[in-house]
Amino acid sequence: MVNPHHCPFFIIVDGGDGSGKDTQAKLIAKFLANDDFPRVRIRSHPAHDSRFGRRAKQALETEGKKGHLMAAFFYALDVIRSLVKYYRHEEEVIIFSRYLLGVCYLPRVLVMFGYSFFSHLLPTSKYSFFLDVDPLVARDRISKRGGVEEMFETLPRLRKMQHKIRHVTKIHHWYRIDGNGTPLQVWSQIKSVLIQ
Ligand SMILES: Nc1ncnc2c1ncn2[C@@H]1O[C@H](COP(=O)(O)OP(=O)(O)OP(=O)(O)O)[C@@H](O)[C@H]1O
Ligand SMILES: [Mg+2]
Repeated sequence: MVNPHHCPFFIIVDGGDGSGKDTQAKLIAKFLANDDFPRVRIRSHPAHDSRFGRRAKQALETEGKKGHLMAAFFYALDVIRSLVKYYRHEEEVIIFSRYLLGVCYLPRVLVMFGYSFFSHLLPTSKYSFFLDVDPLVARDRISKRGGVEEMFETLPRLRKMQHKIRHVTKIHHWYRIDGNGTPLQVWSQIKSVLIQ
């Protein structure tokens, strides 16, 4: 079972666009928000309250190679800023919705290098969940979600992203979660890991 005394207690929910990261982060927070875990914070990237997050979001809505590189660059800065600001807060559980898999926005040749670089530099969690969702399902969720669509949210790009993420998460330690079911079906897989 997750232990609040192993401070800082840090959970990662990551995956492609529209894979349900924020939905699952909220379900984890609801599950943990009891006497043992008095403070649970969700950091969702790109973060609206950070300059880097806003720049990353802007870049994600911009076409072209420059947009790709800028998105990955500001993403990384946004994540690092969250770590500096919130990691190791006493008595606090932190759930990151989107973490190092943001490097998969980089061109394929740079992905493994980017991932290895950041995973050596930044803390990782034994509770790292990759929500694996069929790109067609993700595409459908994104159109229902509404709002501005990002350049990576077309079907071919969702497919490419899934391929890169699967490659990275096979090599490093991740729990692969089938994210295609209902929110509660997905949550039950995550919960079974947390209560082990
Ligand atoms: N398991 C699910 N089944 C059906 N719809 C879902 C599921 N999980 C999330 N959704 C819906 O899909 C949309 C995207 O979900 P959510 O914001 O949780 O995903 P995300 O991975 O954080 O997305 P983004 O990549 O845009 O940050 C929302 O409208 C949400 O209600
Ligand atoms: Mg999200």
